[in-house]
Amino acid sequence: MCGIFGYVGKNNAVAIVIEGLKKLEYRGYDSAGIAGLKDGEIVFCKEVGKISVLEKVLLEKKTVLDLAIAHTRWATHGIPSENNAHPHFDMNRSLALVHNGIIENYAELKAQLSAEGVVFQSDTDTEVIANVIAKYYRGNLPEAVNAALPLLKGAYAIALVHKDHPGKIIAVANQSPIVIGVSQGEVFISSDTHALASGTRDVIFLSDNEIGVISTDKIEIFNCHNEQIEKQTETLKYSGEEVSKGDYEHFTLKEIFEQPQTIRNACSSRLMEEYGTSFFEGLAEHLADLHTVERILILACGTSWHAGFVASYLIEEYARIPVQVEISSEFRYKNAIVAQNTLVIAISQSGETADTIAAVRELKRAKAAKILSISNVQGSTLARESDFTIFLHAGPEIGVCSTKAFTSQLVILSLFALQLARMRHMNIEEGRQFLEALKKIPDQVSSILKQADSIAQIAKKYAQYNNFFFLGRQYMYPTCLEGALKLKEISYINAVGYPAGEMKHGPIALINEECPTVALCTNHKTFDKIVSNLMEVKARKGPILAIIDESQEKVSAIVDDVIRIPQTIDSLAPILTTIVTQLLAYFIAHELGAEIDQPKNLAKSVTVE
Ligand code: AGP
Repeated sequence: MCGIFGYVGKNNAVAIVIEGLKKLEYRGYDSAGIAGLKDGEIVFCKEVGKISVLEKVLLEKKTVLDLAIAHTRWATHGIPSENNAHPHFDMNRSLALVHNGIIENYAELKAQLSAEGVVFQSDTDTEVIANVIAKYYRGNLPEAVNAALPLLKGAYAIALVHKDHPGKIIAVANQSPIVIGVSQGEVFISSDTHALASGTRDVIFLSDNEIGVISTDKIEIFNCHNEQIEKQTETLKYSGEEVSKGDYEHFTLKEIFEQPQTIRNACSSRLMEEYGTSFFEGLAEHLADLHTVERILILACGTSWHAGFVASYLIEEYARIPVQVEISSEFRYKNAIVAQNTLVIAISQSGETADTIAAVRELKRAKAAKILSISNVQGSTLARESDFTIFLHAGPEIGVCSTKAFTSQLVILSLFALQLARMRHMNIEEGRQFLEALKKIPDQVSSILKQADSIAQIAKKYAQYNNFFFLGRQYMYPTCLEGALKLKEISYINAVGYPAGEMKHGPIALINEECPTVALCTNHKTFDKIVSNLMEVKARKGPILAIIDESQEKVSAIVDDVIRIPQTIDSLAPILTTIVTQLLAYFIAHELGAEIDQPKNLAKSVTVE
């Protein structure tokens, strides 16, 4: 995790890196810091808490720099404190360094350096990097970095300044991204392209173990043999994406309300109604013939994994292709068997999730399968490393809890499932009916959003509980997992998503007056079954809040509260049902006064293992 931003150029570097850092705050917000050079000395400032705290101090001090590196931290090694905040220095304060990632062998390196007389100020692995580089420094900075890198085990990105090298920033990437943005008389470095938005769209991506030596007039890139290499500048499309909260109190609420539009964006130019199928531009050229796909392996984490889990039901039901859904961090160390003709689908909103990227890299190294990724971020690491990427076009998702990206992922996965199905068993009429149902979804989402006030009232009542179950069957099982995750992450209430039929195999022991169930009852095929499961909950005095659709009556008599949503087909019901669980989590968190957009201990982009 953590975000790095740097600038060298004609303007005040302090203001520019603070702006850049704010766009990277989704990567962590435990502390923030900045370093630069003035009169041959290192200048720095670091503060615990959000970037706004650092910004205030810098404004008070009226700090002006023509070059700066900056960092927003998500603590891995060492508590969030000023001491552990970046930048870190070598013992002689010759260099200042910021870092994203983890140095896995930092303890051994630290012990070795300590034995050699180095005194450490922090608990971080970052300070070890600074001192290893300093140990090898003989006047040539890229050579010192190159000597140090082979000793560092793990995935990391680094930016540093050295007092002997005024006007220069050194940047390094190793399985963690660094992008260099080039403009007239100024250069930026960033952990992602999104933070560069207003600065430049001409970029150079550092590949693993490449060292960038960056100044206003030139950018030199060295490989691990200290040879200077040529790198192409790529021009990113400027999307003109808007990142303000508008009239909304939180980004999360704004993003929930954007969903009618983001769902339309996900569908845009991808529906072939006449043929009852879908179309993704460029897909056919990049992936082997989709007719020959015999198995699908889905890799993702968190909410993206939930989208993949929903897709496994969809693809198996419609296309009759067996689907394996894996949590990336588990898959990586599993020694998994990937059968021939497997298509891998990697799902990541950010495209920067370390575990998903690592799992994809391993599959690519083994030439095990073609990789299709689904991401929201053009130029992201995952997009660059996949054979083909389908983009969500949902616009930047700023709230740490994923909302609009999830429903866009579901739309794209259902369109992809439709395409596979139409290539196999599904006839044109069935395809058209599916698209008809999908086309209604944006308006149906709007009608659910109109119920926000009444959902807020219900949330007031349920905010008093400390433990929740989310129960559902079939398509509603992964939807429950997502509903429970939303509640956990923004309201800090314990919530467990569970397949309703499994309750009697153990968890029902926890049901009592103090433990409400949010019952997701919008799966028609299993409706009678979930009603029976709810009777079992009721018999044990568990309060029940049911989400049902207009066609369902039976459940009202046995539940305490009901939220009604428009009717759709089972495979699309996760989208509509999720809008309710998002609003419920939002309003419960709001009622409890929780920090909604940036919940404690979390970061939006999880760039460490
Ligand atoms: C979602 O609300 C979470 N913040 C988290 O689970 C997230 O979905 C996960 O970290 C995966 O992120 P990605 O989609 O960017 O890979």
